[in-house]
Amino acid sequence: MTSNIVPSDPGRVLIFDTTLRDGEQSPGATMSHEEKLEIAQLLDEMGVDIIEAGFPIASEGDFNAVSEIAKLSKNATICGLSRANFKDIDRCWEAVKHANSPRIHTFIGTSPLHRAIPNLDQDQMAERIHETVTHARNLCDNIQWSPMDATRTEHDYLCRVVEIAIKAGATTINIPDTVGYTAPKESADLIRMLIERVPGADEIVFATHCHNDLGMATANSLAAVEAGARQVECTINGLGERAGNTALEEVAMALKVRHDIMPYTTGIDTRKIMNISRRVASVSGFPVQFNKAIVGKNAFAHESGIHQDGMLKNAETFEIMRPEDVGLAATNLVMGKHSGRAALKDKLKQLGVELADNQLMDVFTRFKDLADRKKEVYDDDILALVRVSDDAT
Ligand code: KIV
Ligand code: ZN
Repeated sequence: MTSNIVPSDPGRVLIFDTTLRDGEQSPGATMSHEEKLEIAQLLDEMGVDIIEAGFPIASEGDFNAVSEIAKLSKNATICGLSRANFKDIDRCWEAVKHANSPRIHTFIGTSPLHRAIPNLDQDQMAERIHETVTHARNLCDNIQWSPMDATRTEHDYLCRVVEIAIKAGATTINIPDTVGYTAPKESADLIRMLIERVPGADEIVFATHCHNDLGMATANSLAAVEAGARQVECTINGLGERAGNTALEEVAMALKVRHDIMPYTTGIDTRKIMNISRRVASVSGFPVQFNKAIVGKNAFAHESGIHQDGMLKNAETFEIMRPEDVGLAATNLVMGKHSGRAALKDKLKQLGVELADNQLMDVFTRFKDLADRKKEVYDDDILALVRVSDDAT
């Protein structure tokens, strides 16, 4: 491998975050200039390798945000998106060129459906790819090229255009599953096929960019990594058009927790996940679903008596990750109708209340009665039950 964009460690997976570009494309997720700068700074501090900061030709605002992020970011490569024409690419370069490490990302839809839009036949499109990637490479030595809708592009044509892009100077080839259509085995087979068939494939990084329309974005991304992709494109909270993109937090934690079967590393400081997840939810106006993997309100919460009892004895009984590894202070034992006596005793201890066994039994009976009527029993409710029990005895 000759390009300086390719990591020397073969197990290192680059994390490319596109919250500020693909994520912001979700209808209604528009962020202000200041909010974008804040999120970019958090991504940079968290260890994201490449930040796709926006689509500079799209608007004055996007151009300014990408330029400012390029000037301010300390560690990450800053990337901007551009369509396959010189004007877009020049505008993109004007915005990213301020970065310590700039990247131009240029793309064109290569599947039959997408080729029909600009009305280009296979040869005309191949020529356009050659011209635009060559033009981008004359401006910048770090070029990413994407055949949009790659997973619905004919394999022979995909190999042909990927080879053209590599020869024209692309250093990263991204394989987008633009409409979330692929499945894990197919995602892996596609990357493996490209690595085997395309001359020059070992000189560049293959990236995987998945959408979640069938709920398989993370699985498809990880399958692509196992087949040789070394860049995962993702967003915080899986923010993105329609059902969203691959969620950064899921990929980072899956590779950390299941390192035994997926021996790949990222540069992500996972303890920063919760904070950035909350900030992205707040500035995008897209709340995180309660049962969302890793960052949902319930991801580290337990209500059932059997689970709470197990958790109090050994947290590993029902948790495969430590809350502190994602930046949470502690597991949340939610007090509700499924909670048992051990959890109530533990909760009372946390509240500074120690009861004799018979009074604990009395409070527990009252607690169960209340929990049958209420979704969640709060600390104040429990203290009130203790007072009622005191008065009754
Ligand atoms: O999903 C997609 O195809 C994209 C491209 C612009 C890379 O976001
Ligand atoms: Zn996308």
